[in-house]
Amino acid sequence: MNEKVYEVSASILNIEKGKEAEIILNLEKARTDYYHIDVMDGKFVEKNTYNWMKELSSYIKRISNLPLDVHLMVEDVKSAIDDFSAVEPNIITFHYEACKSDEEVMDVINFIKQNNAKVGISIKPNTPAEKIFKFLPYVHLVLVMTVEPGKGGQTFLSDMVSKIEKIKKYSIENNLEYQIEVDGGINLATCEKVKQAGAEILVAGTAILKAVDYKVIIDELKK
Ligand code: DX5
Ligand code: ZN
Repeated sequence: MNEKVYEVSASILNIEKGKEAEIILNLEKARTDYYHIDVMDGKFVEKNTYNWMKELSSYIKRISNLPLDVHLMVEDVKSAIDDFSAVEPNIITFHYEACKSDEEVMDVINFIKQNNAKVGISIKPNTPAEKIFKFLPYVHLVLVMTVEPGKGGQTFLSDMVSKIEKIKKYSIENNLEYQIEVDGGINLATCEKVKQAGAEILVAGTAILKAVDYKVIIDELKK
């Protein structure tokens, strides 16, 4: 039987300062597929994690070969791409809502490509999937927010399942190859629904960091 492979991107948003070395090493040992870097600017969302995430991602870059999955929750997308390209992320995801026009969306997509990263486009829970359809031939990944961006530890919004299905269906109908990533409230109780709907990369913060054994939870999420 051909079993589908799911990947896990561990969100390090809520790791305790002072414990980063130990936690990052343990995530690596537990075989996370990516480190998910939640970049917040205090404008697009209330919280500001900008400098801390810069520090953490360059630290990870020094001690690990695992790919970085950078999620930009910022207004000034291009400056952030500039700043975070220094750590050579595998994926840079920006928010559709941060752009003022279709031209700006395309401009950001091209700018990420020029910086040698895969392009992810993300939509908040209230943004309909249809809004981004026209951009999907040009991206590598769609990040569907399953909570309101801004903080970890929130409850999964089950209405987002049909949005994931829609985006999956669009890729099949149009013969497009992008991957679908989900972010927010993903745990063992919610992961099955999003996998069924078409998600392939699962971001998880709280579910992993609160677990006694990272390996056990990451293995379960990947099944
Ligand atoms: C929310 C962030 C998420 C979040 C994931 O704005 O993008 O990456 O921190 O954390 P959990 O798994 O706790 O919802
Ligand atoms: Zn995120």
